[in-house]
Amino acid sequence: MDHRNPFTIDSKLVLVTGASSGIGRVCAVQSAAMGARVILFGRDIERLEKTRALMPNNENHLIYTVDLTDYEKVASIVKDLEVQAGKIHGIVHCAGISTTLPLKMITPDKLDLFFHTNVHAAIHLTKLVTAKSVMASEGGSIVFISSVMGSVGEVGKTIYSLTKGALMAGSKSLALELAPRNIRVNCVAPGVVETPLSAKAVYNQDEDLLKKIKSYHPLGLGRAEDVANASVFLLSDAARWITGTTMFVDGGYTAR
Ligand SMILES: NC(=O)c1ccc[n+]([C@@H]2O[C@H](COP(=O)([O-])OP(=O)(O)OC[C@H]3O[C@@H](n4cnc5c(N)ncnc54)[C@H](OP(=O)(O)O)[C@@H]3O)[C@@H](O)[C@H]2O)c1
Repeated sequence: MDHRNPFTIDSKLVLVTGASSGIGRVCAVQSAAMGARVILFGRDIERLEKTRALMPNNENHLIYTVDLTDYEKVASIVKDLEVQAGKIHGIVHCAGISTTLPLKMITPDKLDLFFHTNVHAAIHLTKLVTAKSVMASEGGSIVFISSVMGSVGEVGKTIYSLTKGALMAGSKSLALELAPRNIRVNCVAPGVVETPLSAKAVYNQDEDLLKKIKSYHPLGLGRAEDVANASVFLLSDAARWITGTTMFVDGGYTAR
């Protein structure tokens, strides 16, 4: 029997996207608190620095400012990481955008924007980081932050649901493709979590709507920590036999 703590991510190198805000910020902080060295991706240097200031051993963690839909820049940063950072053990891909848009407002441009940010960027980054020269030879863990909206519907959530469901579906095929290299691929699907993204949502501008949204969550609305803790678990060796699945972290939203 091995008595090492399987839940630790001590000495792992973890890349967190969307680390400048909300869930990604807390994923970066919790990963560092659980012992990892963290690479923080986001577009805003000041907000990334703010995240790093909240992290233990903050001088150990690396910051990169990048728009994840600038695919060439992402590729050149990942190349730089090979030299600057060492082998990567995991990604928590939190970067994403949300909207509430009725069908009649959906345009090809909107679809492109949401697919590029929420889906293409995730796959492009995963392709680069899972290259043999970048990912640790013993394997790794990829965590996509999806949403309950990838599994259940809501009026006006079509575009967002399309992108979040794509992550859930794609992660299964990726899990099969990467299993021979011991690289696990999973999604975490949060319900409504209080972050800058949800603060801007339509339901937060209307008391009755907010009451309705709260009623969907038997355990109340979530905190970024709830999602971060699930993500850290999926990064850890305690999750060594979990791949191709989605963990719903939603206060009971999808239990109905
Ligand atoms: N909050 C919720 O209720 C909830 C529920 C379910 C799922 N989610 C998912 O959880 C993830 C995080 O959401 P959040 O609530 O933490 O949102 P948030 O506070 O708005 O943070 C979003 C993050 O994504 C980054 N980002 C967006 N577009 C980007 C791009 N093109 N390139 C690089 N970075 C980009 C932002 O970076 P900048 O700082 O540069 O803008 C920011 O760090 C999202 O994927 C969201 O869909 C959230």
